[in-house]
Order: sequence, then C-alpha cells, then structure tokens
Amino acid sequence: MNNGIIILDFGSQYNQLIARRIRELGVYSEVLPFNTSLEDILARNPSGIILSGGPSSVNAEDAHLVDKALFEKGIPVLGICYGMQLTTHLLGGKVKKGEKGEYGKAKFEIQKSNSLLSGISRFSTVWMSHFDEVETAPEGFAINGTTDVISAISDESKKIYCVQFHPEVSHTEEGARMIENFVFNICKAPKDWKLTNYIDKTVAEIKEKVGDQKVILGLSGGVDSSVAAVLIHKAIGNQLQCIFVDTGLLRKDEAEKVMKNYGEHFHLNIKLIDAKERFMAKLKGVSDPEEKRKIIGNEFVVVFDEESHKIEGAKFLAQGTIYPDVIESQSVKGPSAVIKSHHNVGGLPEEMDFELLEPLRELFKDEVRKVGEELGIPHHLVHRHPFPGPGLGIRILGDIDEEKVKILQEADDIFIEELYKNNLYEKVSQAFVVLLPVKSVGVMGDERTYEYTAVVRSANTTDFMTATFSKFPWEFLENISNRIINEVKGINRIAYDISSKPPATIEWE
Ligand code: XMP
Repeated sequence: MNNGIIILDFGSQYNQLIARRIRELGVYSEVLPFNTSLEDILARNPSGIILSGGPSSVNAEDAHLVDKALFEKGIPVLGICYGMQLTTHLLGGKVKKGEKGEYGKAKFEIQKSNSLLSGISRFSTVWMSHFDEVETAPEGFAINGTTDVISAISDESKKIYCVQFHPEVSHTEEGARMIENFVFNICKAPKDWKLTNYIDKTVAEIKEKVGDQKVILGLSGGVDSSVAAVLIHKAIGNQLQCIFVDTGLLRKDEAEKVMKNYGEHFHLNIKLIDAKERFMAKLKGVSDPEEKRKIIGNEFVVVFDEESHKIEGAKFLAQGTIYPDVIESQSVKGPSAVIKSHHNVGGLPEEMDFELLEPLRELFKDEVRKVGEELGIPHHLVHRHPFPGPGLGIRILGDIDEEKVKILQEADDIFIEELYKNNLYEKVSQAFVVLLPVKSVGVMGDERTYEYTAVVRSANTTDFMTATFSKFPWEFLENISNRIINEVKGINRIAYDISSKPPATIEWE
C-alpha cells in the first residue's frame, strides 16, 4: 500500500463509506479488521489511521480493542464514534453509559478549534449514533466541541483526533471538510489514487502473474464479470477464455447481447453454453424458493466445471470479486455487523484446482464502473442493475416452465425499455417484473380472459439491505401496464409493488 489511510473495522455500517469518501479525494484507503496486528498495519506504511464506529461498548468484557502502541507511532489517528470512546478508554479517560444516547441529527458547537475542525462553522449539524459517551477526556486532550455531550477531543501534539459523530455521512453538514482536513492537512497523504493508474498497474500485474498460461472466466453479462473480462483481455488477449452459461433464466436475448457486446465488439473469446434444457429439466415441478436456488446454483457449478475442464491447460480462474465482497468476507473474522444473506450463485466451489485471479478486488462498485468506462465499455452496460444468480428462477413464483419464462422475459423487457426511454433507469437501483402463479379474469375486446398477474417492482437503495419502492408518476405506471397487457400474451393484470425493505425484500422469493 502506498501511504494511504487505513480504516480499522469495528463493525460500523459506515466503514465502506469512509473509505469511498477518501478514495474520492484521490487518496488510497483500505478497510482492515480491527484485530489486524500492529506489525501488519505498520508494514503498510499508512499516512493515517481511522478507528471506525462499531456497535459494542469499550466497557464490555469482550470489548474490541487495539494495541495501545498504535497511538505512539507518530501516525495521525482519527477516532470516529466507537473510535473516540476506544481512544479515550485506552489513553486513560473515562467512557460512561449514556442516559438515552443520541441518534440522528444533533447541533454541534465548536468550543476550541483544531486542525481537524479548521474552516468549520462554529455551529453545524452532525449525525450521531451512539449510546456510550466520553465523560472525561484523556490527559493532554483538549475538548474541542460538544453536542449534548463531549463530541470532539484531540491531542494535537500527538496528532490524535476524535469525534463522536459520523463525518462520513452526508447529514453531517461539514463532514467532508473534516475528512479532507484529516487526510491532507494532518496526514499529508499523497493524492495518487487514480483509476487509470490502477488499470495500468493491474494490466502489468496480470501479465506478470499469468505469463503464457490460460485463464478461464465465467462471464455473466453483469458489471463485475464483464469489467474483469475486458481488463484481463487487455492484459493477455486470447489467453483469456470466457464461459457464458445460458441457464434459460436470463433476461430477454441476454446471450445474444453478451455475444454481440463482448464477443464481437471487444473480441473476447466466449464459449456460449446452451444449458437451458438441463436447467429446465432439473427445475420441473419444483416450487420452493430455496430449493430452486440450490438446484440452479448446483447445476451452474456442474456445467461450469464440465466446460472448464474441456479447456486444456487452463491454470487460472478469474472472478469479478469486488472490494465490498472482500471486506465482508474478512469481517467474518472480525466483529462484522454485516447482515448479508445472499451468496452469489455464480460463485464456484473452492476445490476447483485453479489459481484465482481477481483483478477488481481492491475496487468499490462505482470504481469498477469507472474502470469499465475507461476501458471503453458503454455507459449503459456498466450501469446495469444487479441481477440475481438464480435469475428469473426466483422471479417466477412457484414452479417454472418455458412458457412462463417467455412471458416474464417479454414483460420485463418492456418495463426496462420504458425506464430507459423516460430517463428513469439510473434513477432507480433495481427494477424488474415478477410473474405470479395467479390467474385472474379480464376482458379484451369482446372476450373474457383468464390469465397471469405480473408485478412491477422497482427499488431505491444504496446498500440493498434497506430499500424503498420507487415513486414513479402514475402516467408512467399506466403506460407500463397498458403496454405489458397489450403486448404480452399471457398477462392480463399488472400490480405495482409498494413495499419497502424491511419488512419486504427486493425480490419476491
Ligand atoms: P433481497 O430480495 O434479499 O435482495 O432484498 C437483495 C439483493 O440481492 C439480490 N439477490 C440475490 N443475488 N443470488 C444472488 O446472486 C440470490 O439468490 C439472490 N437473492 C437476492 C437481489 O436481486 C437484490 O439485488
């Protein structure tokens, strides 16, 4: 690592946001579990260290602590929320249980400014989320600001700064300025995180690592695997062999589009496997969602395994793993507060005897998109909504057959087309149609109809853990409904899903 900023993860949901804010400033930042050894931290030669928030209490018996020597290395430290309480606790101050805690917006007043608060208004709004509070600051620390409680302390001589609120969230009005002050004025971190450098560096690394060996990659048509494929192809050309499995549960014309967009346009070597019948046969009569997931996931692995073994001399398996996946998997060892339950069904078993190649594992999603565009992938392809591994298999409720797949593909395609036409596609996070196993009566011309009901679903979210339904204009929904009912044979009624997550989920199964 290149003198970037290390964030130690105590389980706050905002850790990734801090790292992204810093990277947006052009400075490298990485998130490490709180129990990373001091030796490993120092080996990375960081310009600064941020101790993040977290759900526990420093006074608890099994509190998450760090080696106190961390504060004695001359490296600037910023403690945020739990990080402030931890610093206080370790350096001899006192942290007590609050009476009611502070959650949400609070008025922050600066009593005595410091380098972190330089240029910040005397009164500003900050975002709080804590129960414990600092009662007495450690010796040598100044109290710089308050809300209802002590909210900012520092020992400038030791370059240790703490805030009780979260400067990384946008509700903290002047938080961005505080992060800039820390990164540039206090840590003097080098501004050398540029995605074009990342591409050049990664291309060189792939060349070096792969040599003249072959690499296999499971291309799904999604953003991550596509960007990974184009990046690897830039490094080693036709030594990359992509495998695209058509499960029969993909969006309309997906296989043709992938062959055209990436095969023809980027000259990727793609082996298209038509496994539609195999998947359909395995799924026949199965209606339980988890069982469908399992069947689709297993069958995918079997097909991929068969095909990859037909490719002689392949030594590497490339995957589009991105940084949030890495953080989530490493925080399993730490105090993870991450509650993600889904594994990507495209995921492959570890016992495959390939060496892994994961060229995007340092990047956040928005960075992956920028890399994709930098590599020449069209904007609309790198901004596609996520699509679940089991695909339409979990968007056709109950049992699946080819006719239902066809109906759903047509309906979904109309919805997506209208979203693009009305400039709404990128204003929502994930949009699709769900086919219910429910028939209802309708009338078309003089005829009575008895056909399926489809649900139009669109969610807005930043992290997919919580979401709200998209508030479209009635005219837009009316047009979607008219078009689907008129153009798709088999559907005579449309409902719009107005549930939030929680308690509903984004998908219906
Ligand atoms: P839910 O429905 O849980 O979905 O609110 C959150 C996000 O996860 C995606 N999702 C899946 N992705 N395999 C996947 O690869 C799955 O089994 C799966 N189930 C849900 C969903 O599309 C949304 O983006």
